[in-house]
This record gives sequence, structure tokens and C-alpha cells, in this order.
Amino acid sequence: MSTSKTRVGIIGAGPSGLMLSHLLHLSGVDNVVIEARSREYCENRIRAGILEYEVAELMRATGLGERMDSVGSRHDGTNFLVNGELHHINFQNLVGKHVMLYSQHEVVRDLIAARLKAGGELIFEASDAAVHDYETGDPYITYTQNGINHRLDCDIIAGCDGFHGICRPAFPAGMIVEYDRLYPFGWLGILAEAPPSLDELIYANHPNGFALLSMRSPTISRLYLQCAPDEPLENWPDDRIWEELALRLGHDGFNLNTGKIFQKSVTAMRSYVAEPMQTGRLFLAGDAAHIVPPTGAKGLNSAIADVAILHRALEAHFKHNDHEALASYTPICLKRIWQIERFSWWMTSMMHKFDNHGPFDARMQTAELNYILTSSAGQMTLAENYVGLPLH
Ligand code: FAD
Ligand code: DHB
Repeated sequence: MSTSKTRVGIIGAGPSGLMLSHLLHLSGVDNVVIEARSREYCENRIRAGILEYEVAELMRATGLGERMDSVGSRHDGTNFLVNGELHHINFQNLVGKHVMLYSQHEVVRDLIAARLKAGGELIFEASDAAVHDYETGDPYITYTQNGINHRLDCDIIAGCDGFHGICRPAFPAGMIVEYDRLYPFGWLGILAEAPPSLDELIYANHPNGFALLSMRSPTISRLYLQCAPDEPLENWPDDRIWEELALRLGHDGFNLNTGKIFQKSVTAMRSYVAEPMQTGRLFLAGDAAHIVPPTGAKGLNSAIADVAILHRALEAHFKHNDHEALASYTPICLKRIWQIERFSWWMTSMMHKFDNHGPFDARMQTAELNYILTSSAGQMTLAENYVGLPLH
């Protein structure tokens, strides 16, 4: 068994683990990231695309803005398509902020590059990670890499290991209360070699179900269709996908650009929160503690918000001997997270087709959309939440 020591042992090299590592490094706090997958896998995992205003600002303030500002694009607003009518919501005019369209895997690439350039320790392809003695002052992590068993002693363990990680299940039995909602639909997502059909996103509510038009670059479109949560991909040959997208996104003057589909997957939709987010010296962040349906574009953003909060508490703990700061981690995060959960649930409820809806529910959904999209107060609510709440 080889042994080493650091201050913060971080499990998971997703956006939350890598950003925490980066922020701690900038504060002079030693840390090590332990990741089950390869670097290549982490850098190519296709997921989210929208960065909230303050998340993008955090990237810039911590030296990660360059590629985001050249390869990504600034979106001052977004579109909602309801009853064939396109409504533009101008975030910039409503709340003076914008969002950035920049892929999650690009954020991950930037973070990995920054950590490696700074001499950071990222351990990829580490199997059998386990956390120990986190209720005492001497926690440690064990893992195996290339057949060699390792022990990493640390002061604090950060569980940034996603929804299926090992940190949340390591909490004492019965301690965590789970709040959970599964939605009766999923999203079929594609990436296609097709120039974006519009310069901003379209969130569409259609009698056949939700559709979303997004993009990755001037030549690549990212598109989603509401489908069954366990929809077999075989049900969706490329022609059917394009037909359905054209139908659900169709409106006056719109022409859907099509092209070669090079990635296709189905994501189930779920809202989930685990409380509390800490026990002893073990802290959860990001998907390890909570997930949202993607309709509000919040998963990645709330993972970054958690670690911004955790970083501040760890900085207070290590640099200023303020040991109370860590005790407030869970309540500070949860207050924000429940706002995010509400917004994501609300957007999901408002934009999707629910098979169990009767005529009254359907009318309520339409009335709510009409109100939100045509009232300045409604638009403001949408814009304020979409661009993101403050990171604390
Ligand atoms: P993750 O990104 O899940 O990172 C966790 C890391 O921990 C992973 O690298 C994993 O390999 C590693 N890990 C897990 N277990 C172990 C272990 N035992 N040992 C070591 N390492 C471990 N959000 C949106 O806003 N919009 C979207 O369109 C969107 N699409 C998504 C599509 C999919 C298929 C999924 C799964 C999620 C999507 N999300 C989306 C959500 C968003 O991507 C997540 O909220 C975000 O990745 C959370 O970051 P994280 O760092 O907390 O967790
Ligand atoms: C994207 C994904 C989302 O869930 C969303 O709400 C907006 C954009 C995307 O992948 O581009």
C-alpha cells in the first residue's frame, strides 16, 4: 500500500470536483482529485451546454475564460415556442445579464488543462475508491490504480462523484432524507452536423411533446425531443427524429437545418435532493447530492455553485481558522438548491406533455405559459431564474 497526504481529497473529476480543485489551488490549499474514468472519457462526456451568468464570470475570474469567450457564444435571450408562436425573452433587457453557451465537456477540458499546468494531482482510472474515518479528525481515501493499492490521508473529503458515486451511500444509515420525483418522460438528445437553425435556443411546447433546439458551434446543432423515459433508440431512426423535430419546432419563417447525426442518447428526468450534504469531514457537492431535470439548464450550474460555496467554507477553515464556516455548508447550499429544484420542476411542468393531464390541466398549462410569456413580471421571473441566482 502506498500512502500520501493532502488537505482535501476530492472524489470525482466532473465539473464539481475539478472546479473545487481549481479554486482550492488558487487559495493555496493542497488537494488531490481521484477519478474512476480515464481523462479522455471525462473530456468527451457530452452533457450540458448553458452556463449561468455568474458561473461564466467565475470561469473568467479564475483564469478559465479565454476559450469560453472565443469558442462559446454569449446568449442575451432565449425563445419559447407555444401554439406555433415564438416568444423571445430578452434576459439582457429584463435583468441585465446573459448566459454563455459553452459545452460541459469544454469546461471539463479547460479545468483539467489548468490543473495539470499548475502541477495539480489528478488521478484517473482509480478503481474501488472508498472513504474511511470521516467522522473523526483523520479521514482517508483508499483506491487502486494499475493494480497498486493507495491510501490518501486528508483533512476533508469532498464527494463530487455524481449521482451514482460512493460518497452519498457512505453516510451513516438513516441519516440522509431523500426527496425524489421521477417524471414520466425522458429526452432523446442528438448532436448533428447541421448549422444551428437560429442564433438562440428554442424551448418548444407542442401537442406531441417538448422539443429543444440548441447548438454547440456554427456547424453543430444540439437538439432534444421529449420521449418515453426508457425509449429504445431503435424506435428513432434519423429520418423520424428530423421529422418530429421539424414538426415540434416548426413556426412561420422557420427552416430546420438537418445533417448527419453523430450522437444519440436518452436521458431520464428526475428531481432529487439528499439532506444533509455533510457528515463529519465528508461533504457532498453537485449531482452526488441533488439532480434536476435538464429543462432549466441547471445541473452543471448548481454543481459549480455548490463548490463555490464549499470552497469559501474550506478557505475560511484552512486559511482563517474559522471552523464554523464548514458547519453552514449544508444550509447555505440547500437554500439555493431548493430554488433551483423549484425552477427546474416548474419549467419541466410547464413545457412537457403529460399523458395523465385532463383537459383542465392542459388549459392550466397553456394559461400559465401565456401569462409568463406575455406579462413583464412573468418574463422577469423566467429571466431572473434562467440567468442564475447569485452563487451564494
Ligand atoms: P458528474 O459530472 O457526474 O461527475 C462525477 C464524476 O465522478 C464523474 O467523472 C465520475 O466518473 C466520477 N465518479 C463516480 N463514481 C466514482 C468513484 N467511485 N470513484 C471515482 N470517481 C467516481 N445538465 C444540464 O444542465 N443540461 C443538460 O443538458 C444535461 N444533460 C445531461 C445528460 C446526461 C446523460 C447526464 C447524466 C447529465 C446531464 N446534465 C445536464 C446534468 C449535468 O451534466 C450534471 O449536473 C453535472 O455533470 C454535475 O456535475 P458533477 O461534477 O456534480 O457530477
Ligand atoms: C442544453 C441543454 C439543456 O438542458 C438546456 O436547458 C439548454 C441547453 C444544451 O445541451 O445545449
